[in-house]
Formats: sequence, structure tokens, C-alpha cells
Amino acid sequence: MTTGGTAAYQVHIETFGCQMNEYDTELVRSLLIARGFAFTDDRERADVVLMNTCAIRENAHNRVYGHLAALRPIKKQRNLVVGVLGCMAQNLKQELMDQASVVDVLVGPDAYRKLPDLLTQAIQAQERGLTEKGLAVDLSEYETYEDILPQRAEGLNAWIAIMRGCDNFCTFCVVPYTRGRERSRDPEGILREAEHLAAHGHKQVTLLGQNVNSYRHDGWDFARLITAVADVPGIARVRFTSPHPKDFPPALLDAVADHPKICKHIHLPLQSGNDRILNLMGRTYSRKEYLALVEEIRRRNERIALTTDIICGFPSEAEEEFLDTYRTVREVGYHQVFGFVYSERKNTIAGRKYPDDVPDAVKSDRVTRLVDMQKPIALQKNRDLVGSAVEVLVEGDAKKSSTQWMGHTGQNVTVVWDKHGAKAGLGDLAQIRITHASVTTLYGYEI
Ligand code: 5AD
Ligand code: SF4
Repeated sequence: MTTGGTAAYQVHIETFGCQMNEYDTELVRSLLIARGFAFTDDRERADVVLMNTCAIRENAHNRVYGHLAALRPIKKQRNLVVGVLGCMAQNLKQELMDQASVVDVLVGPDAYRKLPDLLTQAIQAQERGLTEKGLAVDLSEYETYEDILPQRAEGLNAWIAIMRGCDNFCTFCVVPYTRGRERSRDPEGILREAEHLAAHGHKQVTLLGQNVNSYRHDGWDFARLITAVADVPGIARVRFTSPHPKDFPPALLDAVADHPKICKHIHLPLQSGNDRILNLMGRTYSRKEYLALVEEIRRRNERIALTTDIICGFPSEAEEEFLDTYRTVREVGYHQVFGFVYSERKNTIAGRKYPDDVPDAVKSDRVTRLVDMQKPIALQKNRDLVGSAVEVLVEGDAKKSSTQWMGHTGQNVTVVWDKHGAKAGLGDLAQIRITHASVTTLYGYEI
């Protein structure tokens, strides 16, 4: 690819963290391609290495520092511009630039429109033997990148960010500081994007927001939006993440329970099953209220799978309080539980107010106990499906064998089956009779 007779600069981008970051990487690709940059999977050939980073926990930071250190020797040998994007750039700002001298450009999640200019300046400075650092970390109350069509990777699934930012200020969470105030995108733009995706062979759309339940735009709420997206011809499945348990609207529950194209899966982060800790976390619901919501979900449609996030070792969490969480997780019976050790984040309310006083070994032990308790529950849920038929989107080759297909049920459980004798191909919905099950995977044959 060339621009104005000169070879385009090659950019290599690595993405860390959540699906919102995956989506932002697609936005960044689009912004840079429009300005004549090209992309390469080969870091060795790149003129620019970008890292789209996550700040949610300490280990996310450490991985990025590791990758930056690996770039130092390369940079000594040749011209290379290094850019850090996303939440860690926003959270650490100048401090990151000072700590990691290898970084030339830092751009936060609301400032990606400035990236092409900042990269061009840094590249041109390097070509003259100079160093020019670029920093853009302004947060915006309005930026939704409405006019940018993300440059997506091929595949069946596509993400659509329906909103940006977060106003919840859970005391442990850095996101309100890294992604700024909550703003919802225009539903018309979202629907246009969904139609475009359907026309380009994407069968599944995942709607993303920090708290999708607070989506509001000109009289539209999230239930109306997800129903409209699910009604777009050509879209076979719609998923979403994440709702907040404090304000789960009945209309959304109806949509999930009844709309044939909305997957029967709700990720409902509990975080803790102890009321004192929930209160310190600023979650604004009690254990009892959460359990009432679970009951209501199951009353509406018992097939809806629930998954959750749990933080272990929040400041001052006592063993007995952790056991409340443990018992609540067991009582709900989730399909999947994501357990995290509490990680104190700079700028957050908990970081400022509550000493990080639970020892690391205790935090990890609590996560391990949760995971160990969860395994037989997941196994039992999968075993319950043996003998029955499930609907699966054919997504690609199985990891272990190209003679087998892999896909997911609407409840988001992985299914593997033989291609031999199978009629459905990539992107189709297949009916699979389940013959056996493990903790993570269902196996069967197409009927
Ligand atoms: N420490 C540990 N886990 C955290 N999460 C968010 N912030 C922190 C933190 N400071 C977890 C929550 C959230 C998930 C995306 O990450 O469980 O739901
Ligand atoms: Fe995503 Fe949160 Fe990480 Fe930001 S901090 S990249 S929003 S997981």
C-alpha cells in the first residue's frame, strides 16, 4: 500500500483487556487506515508498535510493562515508534511516559482522533534523529466515534459499543477515571452498523457497554435497542455485556426471555455476596435483592444461563464475609464464575479510603476455593444436557482438530462435533445432540 508515492508506515497493534478494547482497536485501525497507515501482524516489520492497554488490575499493567521492556532492544537497533493507548495510558498519563522511556505516544480512549497526527509527528522526528513525545489524554463528555466504521477482523462475531464511559463509581473500579462519563450512541447509527455487519457476513453481534441498563437516547432504552438489533435481517444471534444488577429493567428481561435471537445468557456481576462488602464497594444492592433478581430471571425463563464476576479480598473482607460470597455463588449455581483477587487501583475511591489489608495469599486462596467449588456445578449443568439437542452457531474448527467443528450454545457453552456427516457449515445454526460433557465443553453429533 502506498500514499503519495511513499510506502505506507506499517503498524502492529496488540490488544489487552476487555471486549471494549477489542472494539476500540478496530476503531483505531479505521482511523489510521483512513490516513494512509497500513497494518502488519509481524512486529519485526512494523514502523509503529501500538498497545491498547487495560488498567483494571495490577497484572494487566505488568503485562504491558513486560511488552514495553521487550521493545527496548529493538528500538536501539532501528527506528520504531511505540504508542500506548487505552485505559493504562489514561490512568497513568505522564507518569507512564516518565517510567517507560521507550514510549513515544500516549493516547487515552477519548482521544483516538489525535493518534494519526501524533504518530506522524513522532515518525518524522525520528527520521530526523530527534525524539518527539505525544500525549493526548483528554476525556470527553460527547465523543462516541459515531462517524467511524470500525475496521473489523473477518469472523462471525462483531462487537458494537453502544455507549462509552461509566458513571457508577464502584469504589474498586478505575473505569470511570479511564473512560470518563457515560454517553449513549444514537440508536440509528447502531442499527446502521448492525445492518452493515449482517451484509458483510457477521452472524452474531455483541452489544457492549459498561452498564448497558443505563443506555438512553431520545426515548430509546436498552430493551428497545437490543430488540431492534435482533430484528435486523441476517443477524442470527445477539449477545450483550454487561448489565448492572441494581437496575435490571423488566422489559430487558422480557426481551432476553422471549426473543428467539437474543441469547439466553446474562452476565450478572455479583462482586460479593456480603452486604457490608457490597456497601463498601458502592454496588447499591444487597445480597437479598440480587437473589430476588436471579429468581425473577429464572421464573421468566429457566433456560437463561447466568455468569458472574467476583472480587476476593476487597479491603477488610473477613473470612466469614467471604463465606457469604462462597455460599451465594453456590446457591445461584452459575454457568461460569470469573474470580479476581482485589487489586488496588490508583485514583479509585477504595484506593484512597480503604487500606489494601487482605494478604495476597488469602486473596488467591479465596479465588481458588471459589473456582474449585464452581467446577462440579458447571460439570453438572453440562451433563444435564447429555441426550438433548442444542442449537449451536458453527464458528470454526475445533482447537484440537480440523476434522471437528466448534461453536457455542446460546448459553455460551462451547460445543465440539465431527465434521464428518455434518450438514451445517460455517455461520449456520446447527442442531447438535449432546453425547458427553466436560466442565468446559459439550460433545455430540449434528442431527
Ligand atoms: N480488582 C480486582 N478486580 C476488579 N474488577 C474491577 N476492578 C477490579 C479491581 N480493582 C473486576 C470486577 C469486574 C471485572 C471486569 O473486573 O469483577 O466486574
Ligand atoms: Fe476494558 Fe476496563 Fe480494562 Fe479499560 S480497564 S480496557 S474498560 S477492562
